[in-house]
Amino acid sequence: MEILVVGGGVIGLSVAINLLLAGHKVKLAVRDRKEGASWVAGGMLAPFSEGLEGELLRFSVESLHLWHEYLDRLQDISGRRVYFSEGILRLALTEEEEQDLREKVKRYSSEFCKSVASYETEELLCEFPYITKDVRYAVLYGEEGNVDTEELMEALYVAFEKLGGELLNEDIVRVRREGERIEKVFSVFGEFTADFYVFATGAWLKEHFNFPVFPVKGHILRINAPLKDYVLYSSAAYIIPREKDVLVGATTENKGFDRRITLGGVKQLTEGAARVVPSLQEAELLEVRVGFRPGTPDEKPVFYFGENFLVLGGHYRNGILHAPLTAEIALRFVDKGEVSEYFKSFSPYRFK
Ligand code: GLY
Repeated sequence: MEILVVGGGVIGLSVAINLLLAGHKVKLAVRDRKEGASWVAGGMLAPFSEGLEGELLRFSVESLHLWHEYLDRLQDISGRRVYFSEGILRLALTEEEEQDLREKVKRYSSEFCKSVASYETEELLCEFPYITKDVRYAVLYGEEGNVDTEELMEALYVAFEKLGGELLNEDIVRVRREGERIEKVFSVFGEFTADFYVFATGAWLKEHFNFPVFPVKGHILRINAPLKDYVLYSSAAYIIPREKDVLVGATTENKGFDRRITLGGVKQLTEGAARVVPSLQEAELLEVRVGFRPGTPDEKPVFYFGENFLVLGGHYRNGILHAPLTAEIALRFVDKGEVSEYFKSFSPYRFK
């Protein structure tokens, strides 16, 4: 089949690669390779640290379990090494957070997560003396992980091209739809037809479909600091040590597509980082970035299908985590007509 995927973020690329591997001819329409949230994302694979619940938790854990295979395959195809670390340390900084974390860890470890270690304050500070003494309790979720998203995105583009995918530098501005069938899509200068279409346009989904997906701005800092252990996840900030730098994220702001780096955004993150690791006051600030998560009113994805198209959006804070399972679901739909149960859970009709 000839398939046109619109959107060059982690979801669009992962879907495109799965379809290429299954023998389809795939074109990927991308207006600006670096526009999407995937490049700015912290890359945490963190369903437990994020405190997810219900269907979203189940979907996220299923996708987490596909991650190693997804990454191995990507590295094999692209020939690129992508930095990956295992384990996220979830910190509780207040009494309320401590109660919530103690309750959640019981539930998560009985149902979903086998590799869990709990730390009372003294044990934690003995092992990680740089963490604030204000910490009340912590849990190491061993099955969670972190990926360097720039390396990931580069590897995805390399793999896409190595598999024979065709990259179109096009801004798809209009979709001609007859009921549940797409006839054609239009860019500023041209028009495109395909046997099947996939839309994975992140925070920009509303440009083509009237679903309630909106941008949720996040500032993230890149700093130089001698931190090497686990990702530290707290309500004040999350701190992500990588090979070449450390990330501090992220603000959550409902300000539309406001690309400005603000003093307020930087202040929240610098104060948050120092609250978790006081010595970070002395860290060198290398860069500040801003990205737009694809938010939805209930923070769950929006999946939709028609006769010859799929819409895969609204992954909000977890697009990197959700990429492997979203790509599997897309392939099963295209090749076997299989409608995943998640099309029902994440249907846009829930908002009506
Ligand atoms: N996944 C973390 C964030 O969106 O900030």
